[in-house]
This record gives sequence, C-alpha cells and structure tokens, in this order.
Amino acid sequence: MNGESDQRMAIVEIESLKRSFGSTVAVDALNLSIDAGDVFGLLGPNGAGKTTTIKILTTLLRPTAGQARVAGYDVVRQAGEVRRAIGYVPQLLSADGSLTGYENLLMFTKLYDVPRNDRSPRIAHAVTLMGLGEAAGKLVRTYSGGMIRRLEIAQSMLHRPQVLFLDEPTVGLDPSARRTVWEYVTRLRRTHEMTIFLTTHLMEEAERLCTTIAIMHRGRLVARGTPARLKASLQRQDATLDDVFIHYTDGMEGGSYHDVSRARRTAKRLG
Ligand SMILES: Nc1ncnc2c1ncn2[C@@H]1O[C@H](COP(=O)(O)OP(=O)(O)OP(=O)(O)O)[C@@H](O)[C@H]1O
Ligand SMILES: [Mg+2]
Repeated sequence: MNGESDQRMAIVEIESLKRSFGSTVAVDALNLSIDAGDVFGLLGPNGAGKTTTIKILTTLLRPTAGQARVAGYDVVRQAGEVRRAIGYVPQLLSADGSLTGYENLLMFTKLYDVPRNDRSPRIAHAVTLMGLGEAAGKLVRTYSGGMIRRLEIAQSMLHRPQVLFLDEPTVGLDPSARRTVWEYVTRLRRTHEMTIFLTTHLMEEAERLCTTIAIMHRGRLVARGTPARLKASLQRQDATLDDVFIHYTDGMEGGSYHDVSRARRTAKRLG
C-alpha cells in the first residue's frame, strides 16, 4: 500500500467514475474517498448504482470512464493486487449449499492462496469469530439465512483483506438474525483493522454500523457525512435517517424501498 504516514489515509479513491449499460448510465461521474478504518455505508433507492459501484471496486466490472483505486491499487491496471486486498460478500448467495460450512471455508482458503499451514487456524478463527461453532460441520443447505450470511462473511475474511465489501449484508433476515450479523460485523471491525464498505436499505443498519454514509441517486452522490451530520443537515428537530434518505432522493418512484420485487428476490435468494 502506498501513502503517507497520515493515520487517516484514503483506502478507496474514486474519480469521475462512470459505467453505462447501453443507454443506462448506472454510475455517473462519481467522486468519492473513504478513509482507512471507516465503516462506510452506501445508501440509495433500487437501481441507484450501488452494486455496480461495488462490482467496479471489486474488479468484477470495468468502468466505462474514470478511475478507482482500492488499497492504493488501480482497479483496472492492478486488478490482481486489488483482489488480494479485498473481501467481497455479494448481494446474492455465494456459499455452496451442497458443501458443509467447513468445506466452503476450505475452498476459499485455496482460492485466496492462504498458505497450507495457515488454513486450519484461519478457518477455526473465522468459525469462532462468526459464531458458527458446530454448524461448520453441517451442510450449508440446512443453514438459516442468518447463518449463511455469517458463513459468507467468514469466507470473505480468510485472507485478512484490508477492505471488506458487503452488498446488503442482512437482506432477507429477520430482526434477530439481523442483529446477530450486526454484532459480528462490529466484532470483526474491532478485532481486525479492516475498512468496511457496505450497502443497505435499512436505515437502522446504516445508523448502527456506519461511521460515514453516502447517498446515491441515479448514479450520482447526493449527500455524504456522518449519520449525525446528515440528520443535522435537514435543519429539522428529530430528523431521522429515513427523513434524510427521502429528502435527498425525492422519495421513490413506485413506492417505498421495501418493495415487492425486493421481497421476492430475497425469497428466491434464500429459498
Ligand atoms: N448487467 C447489467 N446490464 C444492464 N443493466 C444493468 C446491469 N447491471 C445493472 N444494470 C442497471 O444499472 C442500474 C444500477 O443497478 P445496480 O444494481 O447498481 O443498483 P443498486 O443500487 O444496487 O440497486 P438495488 O438496491 O436494487 O440493489 C439499474 O438501472 C440496473 O438496471
Ligand atoms: Mg444492489
């Protein structure tokens, strides 16, 4: 990693980033910098461009224009270095249901080139840290949604990444499973000095976990700050993060962001 001795160096730097799909501009002239050690939350309505941004930062999609650096590496020219520096939990299911939790973890240690002698201790540590315990020996298809998400987070941290990307970490989880995932994410951040970049539609989640929040709307950033600052920016007593979201995104076309299609997608994901 390059950079100064400054404690708060930027670990993610995005400059004039753009990504189009045909005539759809998913990410439009995005500029953003995230400090090392932050838990950064990217909020925004369905289709705002959050997942597209994460896919560019994790090297899965090439930008149409502009630049991005993660841990000091360019996401296009130094994609391999970026991949070694990050962990990624996608919005959709990534654990293999026909394997046990342990087998999934072992597969990821190989994928990430964790040295052979380190594999068992790293897996044991991840299992403990994410509270998987005896479940690690069972087939993932028997897991609850919350356990699957915790396994996926465990998978993503085996190679000790500097930046962890979590795309909707608690989508489809019930309130208690959600809280458990929050506890584990908080624990992960405390024990490993990791920068976390997450997206969510849950304002409570953003408020609990994030040190900085940015709101994306139609491919652009429309607001950015600490949860407290964003609420204060409305200059209204008792403004909530829901109010902030609605204020900066003009409400939503077609109803709330907990819409039916999302619920269906979630059901499909976990079903
Ligand atoms: N592979 C693709 N091909 C064509 N269009 C795409 C593709 N991926 C994304 N898009 C479009 O780009 C826009 C941004 O999508 P993206 O998935 O990044 O949004 P999002 O903010 O993650 O939404 P959500 O909250 O629903 O997950 C949408 O209009 C989407 O339809
Ligand atoms: Mg998305």
